[in-house]
Amino acid sequence: MNNREKEEYLREYEQLKKKGKPFFPYAIMKDSVMFLVVAAVLITMSLVLGAEMGPKADPTTTTYTPRPEWYFFFLFELLRVLKPPALVPIATVGIPTICMVLLLALPFYDRGAERIPWKRPIATITGILIIIAMAKLTLLGASAGSPSEIELATKPQYEQGKAIVAESGCLACHAIGENGAHGGLGPDLTEIGSKIPRSAIKQSVEIGPGIMPSFRGLGEEDLNAVADYLASLN
Ligand code: HEC
Repeated sequence: MNNREKEEYLREYEQLKKKGKPFFPYAIMKDSVMFLVVAAVLITMSLVLGAEMGPKADPTTTTYTPRPEWYFFFLFELLRVLKPPALVPIATVGIPTICMVLLLALPFYDRGAERIPWKRPIATITGILIIIAMAKLTLLGASAGSPSEIELATKPQYEQGKAIVAESGCLACHAIGENGAHGGLGPDLTEIGSKIPRSAIKQSVEIGPGIMPSFRGLGEEDLNAVADYLASLN
């Protein structure tokens, strides 16, 4: 801001100040009235409508799909796509903190006098890009498949095995298509049928090689359905 601009600004400010009303009591009065109205509406709504209670929490459920509130979908999606564990704290705590600090410090490093958006291209473009990125992540997060669901298309005869695999916790360690743990403890099973024979697949599920738990408890019928399904993936 050069001297001429500064004088002009101060002159304008002086004039506007003469025209305006003081903050106390005028603005305070308006705020207080509005606050009372909002509080009254909230109290009335909670008394009349009440809050909806979901079903009681069930710690034994295996079909529960954990979902954040919509305004956290961008963070949820970021966590879903970030595979290396070392990057998780950087992405979830580090980057948002840096952004907040940059935003708080904005008046100190952006000393330009311009307020019109197209005369501040860097700030405007940065702002727009952040909004686009967050909107995109929010949309992706909102449409992400649940952790107990396999979206890969299957022939009807393998649907039963697919449902068992989806509900048995295999996706906590294995990836199948877009779903499950990419870079998890176990190998990707998306094309397992072309890598090892059905008998080896069934044996793996029954025995649980290495750190994988045994799934013998599924029973012969379900084990066969799982083996049939996995053998069909190629
Ligand atoms: C706790 C994590 C974990 C879970 C849960 C798990 N697995 Fe595994 N699975 C592994 C690991 C690790 C391996 C590789 C073991 C090895 O070879 O040492 C493996 C290997 C396999 C293999 C053999 C893959 C190959 O290339 O040889 C199959 C098939 C398999 N798992 C299927 C399943 C199915 C089906 C389920 C669910 C019913 C399941 N797994 C649940 C961790 C897991």
